[in-house]
Amino acid sequence: MQVIRTIKDLRSWRNEIGNSIVSLVPTMGYLHEGHLQLVEEANDQSDYTVLSLFVNPLQFGPNEDFDKYPRDEARDFELAEKAGVDVVFCPTSDELYGEEPSVQLIVTKRVNVLCGKSRPGHFDGVVTVVSKLFHLVQPHVACFGLKDAQQVAVIEGLVAALDFPVRIHRVATVREADGLAKSSRNVRLSAVERDMAPIVYEALCIGKTVLTTGGSANAAVETVRNKLADSAQGVFTIDYVEAYDFPSLTPDIQLNGEVLLAVACQFENARLIDNVLVQLPEKR
Ligand code: PAF
Repeated sequence: MQVIRTIKDLRSWRNEIGNSIVSLVPTMGYLHEGHLQLVEEANDQSDYTVLSLFVNPLQFGPNEDFDKYPRDEARDFELAEKAGVDVVFCPTSDELYGEEPSVQLIVTKRVNVLCGKSRPGHFDGVVTVVSKLFHLVQPHVACFGLKDAQQVAVIEGLVAALDFPVRIHRVATVREADGLAKSSRNVRLSAVERDMAPIVYEALCIGKTVLTTGGSANAAVETVRNKLADSAQGVFTIDYVEAYDFPSLTPDIQLNGEVLLAVACQFENARLIDNVLVQLPEKR
């Protein structure tokens, strides 16, 4: 596995491999099994897998956890190598952004709901870094986890809007045995919070049953919210429970369409998000 830190070296590696099929797994590091699943699926679809490892300052708001975001480069390299990554691209912020940019990307659709609503500018930062990575790595395929379903929807919108010749491969959420979605932020849960955290997915599964048995999106949302509120015992607060058509993220639920039922809960030192994508039954 090669570790590449500069744009110049990345470009010369990319030129060397020419027409080979390349996949990209963009990450902010502190790799867990969710990332390794992305790598596994990337490996299956390409000759070379590039994993980017960059905590992107542009996607953190002023009061968010940029400084507290967990980092462990040596461990990430080891895990990436074992998973079969060919190149780890880990630039510094200066290397990637250099001077104050004179062009800014702004996402106008799919962002005023879910996490986007409470994180103004977050997805502008995400599409900026992802666009740069697409230009530099020139991947044929890029893998994104459905745990951040809004991010998947926004990136699919980016690819369509800017005509990137990249296929977005959606990867299902990887979970702990008790259902908790794997996340770098889980390490910040206290023991009591960790015991309580699986309720998030449990509630979503109950909401999914409401949808698959003909209930409305509103009924599913209410069911999930009530289950969470009844279980919270002051350990966490509900940030949102929302349901949208996917990937448009509009409230216009299509017959036979896919519905995203999503939750965010605030624990003391970690905000957990999770979701289920539900294929609606033919007849409702
Ligand atoms: O999902 C993430 O970790 C980040 O948003 C991404 C896609 C790597 C961009 O910084």
